[in-house]
Amino acid sequence: KRRLDTRTVRDYIRTIVDFPHEGILFRDVTTLFADARGFRMAVDQLLTPYAGEPIDKVIGLEARGFILGGAVAHQLSVGFVPIRKKGKLPGSVISQAYALEYGEAVMEMHDDALRPGDRVLIVDDLLATGGTAVAGISLCERLGARIVGCTFVIELPELGGRKALESLGHEVNALTA
Ligand code: PRP
Ligand code: ADE
Repeated sequence: KRRLDTRTVRDYIRTIVDFPHEGILFRDVTTLFADARGFRMAVDQLLTPYAGEPIDKVIGLEARGFILGGAVAHQLSVGFVPIRKKGKLPGSVISQAYALEYGEAVMEMHDDALRPGDRVLIVDDLLATGGTAVAGISLCERLGARIVGCTFVIELPELGGRKALESLGHEVNALTA
């Protein structure tokens, strides 16, 4: 007998206790990406709020934002631009420091990746403190791009990322907490 598959995106995400350190509940999206139905559902739902909005480029944040952002860009038939950790991009870059739980890290983007007035969509798997996304937004804005929105599979609301982005005037969408 056929049964309706009622699993949602959230049902495909696994939580690993104490990774990468004790006390962290790590949201593992590899199980979502590995499932054909789950992955397609996630990519489609990331785009639902932006139906009819002109978007020139999709921006993916290293590393899991590349997997989602690549699929989103393909779906929209637009280009994909990676924002990477320091030292990975081969061309001339602009850099932005951001706060980590302990210390600081640096994100980079090629300095010719966007043009003034480009309308971009920021994509990542997870929004925690928002530090990574704020750094990514700032890189895009330094090249004159306009942020259409920031879209995530998972939001950890207690870590304040949505507040950080919304207080800068950006639209935040997340599929699940
Ligand atoms: C994770 C996640 C986001 C970021 C969110 O990436 O994929 O990019 O953390 O945290 P924030 O909102 O507090 O900035 P991670 O730093 O683990 O890098 P990776 O994807 O390269 O492993
Ligand atoms: N990045 C920051 N916090 C995270 C978490 N709990 N799970 C996965 N990625 C993260």
